[in-house]
Amino acid sequence: MTKILGICGSAAPKSSTKKLIETALNAAKSAGAEVEFIDAAKMNIHGCMGCLACKADQAKMCTQKDDMTPLYDKINAADAIIIGSPIYFGENTGQIKCFIDRLYAFLGPEGSRMKPGKKTVAIITQGYDDEKAYAQCANTLVGGFSYLGASVGEPLIVGGLHAADDLKPESLAAAKTLGKKLAE
Ligand SMILES: Cc1cc2nc3c(=O)[nH]c(=O)nc-3n(C[C@H](O)[C@H](O)[C@H](O)COP(=O)(O)O)c2cc1C
Repeated sequence: MTKILGICGSAAPKSSTKKLIETALNAAKSAGAEVEFIDAAKMNIHGCMGCLACKADQAKMCTQKDDMTPLYDKINAADAIIIGSPIYFGENTGQIKCFIDRLYAFLGPEGSRMKPGKKTVAIITQGYDDEKAYAQCANTLVGGFSYLGASVGEPLIVGGLHAADDLKPESLAAAKTLGKKLAE
C-alpha cells in the first residue's frame, strides 16, 4: 500500500495550509493509500546544530533528540511526501525551515540514506494574489527531499488567502487531485 505523509509548516489554529494538506491526504486515502498528517510547526523540532555527527557513520542519523527523531523513520518509510507552508514575509515559515534543515541527517558519509523512489510535492499558501510571486519557496520546500533522491511533482500554490475560510472550492479540488495522483 502506498504510504503518504503530509507535513504542515503552519501553526495557525485555523490553517489553510493544513486544510489543503488534509484534503489531499483524505483523497489519497479514498484512493487506497495509507496516510498520516504531521503537524510539524507545532512540534518541538530544533534547527540543525551543524555538528556533522550524521556524516561520521553511514549507520547513524541525527544525534539531537527531539520530535524530529521519530519522524526520520516515518519519512524514510513513506512513498510520497506532501510538504506545505504559508508564506511569511516572503519565505516559508521558520518552523518548516528547521524541519527541512534536519533532513541533512539523511545524507551520510556514503551518500543518501533515504529510500529511493520517493515522490514529493509542495503546497504553498499566501495572502498575495500573484501565485508566481513566491514560486521559489515551493522549490525550497521540496529541495531537501529532491537532493536526497526524491522526484518532485507540480506544486499547488494558492494565493489570496487571509483565513482558512477563504479557500475556494477549486483550490480544494486541486488538493484532492494532487492527493489522488500521489496514491496511484
Ligand atoms: C507572519 C505573517 C507573515 C505573512 N507574510 C506574507 C507575505 O510576505 N506574503 C503573502 O502573500 N502573505 C503573507 N502572509 C499571509 C499568509 O501567507 C496567508 O494568510 C496564508 O494562507 C496563511 O496560511 P495558514 O492559514 O496555513 O497559516 C503572512 C501571514 C503572517 C501571519
